[in-house]
Amino acid sequence: MTQHISPYHAPDFYRDALAKGRHRDIVGGRWEETGRIQMQLLHDAGLQPQHHFLDIGAGSLRLGCKAVPYLDPGHYWATDLSGALMRQGHATELEDPARLSPDHLIEDADFSFPGLPDTITHALAFAVFTHLPMNHLRRALTQIHARFPALQCLLLTVFLAPDAQSALKPVKQPDGVVTHDTRAPYHMLAEDMAHLIRTTGFTGAAQSQRLPRGQILYQLARA
Ligand SMILES: C[S@@+](CC[C@H](N)C(=O)[O-])C[C@H]1O[C@@H](n2cnc3c(N)ncnc32)[C@H](O)[C@@H]1O
Repeated sequence: MTQHISPYHAPDFYRDALAKGRHRDIVGGRWEETGRIQMQLLHDAGLQPQHHFLDIGAGSLRLGCKAVPYLDPGHYWATDLSGALMRQGHATELEDPARLSPDHLIEDADFSFPGLPDTITHALAFAVFTHLPMNHLRRALTQIHARFPALQCLLLTVFLAPDAQSALKPVKQPDGVVTHDTRAPYHMLAEDMAHLIRTTGFTGAAQSQRLPRGQILYQLARA
């Protein structure tokens, strides 16, 4: 059987899951709790309604359904590998769909951020790089740095392994999820993160909050 870089990359994954009405499950379920946690992370990072926010790998708008009513109209943008997944969220999860133009949902498979304004001040990629090999993260950081000169704060989550030897084997994360080096969900080293952050023009570090499934939050800014 072919191994895809993540379950999201399997052929027809989104079509089949959406046909079964599973748009909440495929972003990991725990809908209310995880949306609330993401909103709290943004408040803690200083997000205000007048800021311009980008939800990277936004899925079915688990965060968007809370961030859209909080932000000034037109200040929420989302990208994802699947446009259909975001549109399903738009159609079913927003209290007031008129508050979010469908033009703000941008399908983007390679972190090139087409059509996004350069006014973005805050961005979050929650549980996205946990599902992608490390080179995707370097690509994303490099592009984010180039595309968003007004960026004040970038939050993202990853899974970590303690050292290179341990990383060879499956690692059981604090709340039970098992991560891997060469298949999803992926782990990396804190040293890998420090290197990627520095070489892509950012500064920042891991934060201490405990997140669902043992993910580690990084808060970054342009160096
Ligand atoms: C676990 S879900 C998290 C979704 C959302 N951030 C949330 O917390 O509700 C991972 C998301 O990453 C998206 N994704 C996977 N690979 C991607 C890529 N290369 N570029 C953009 N999004 C991607 C998937 O479509 C999915 O929506």
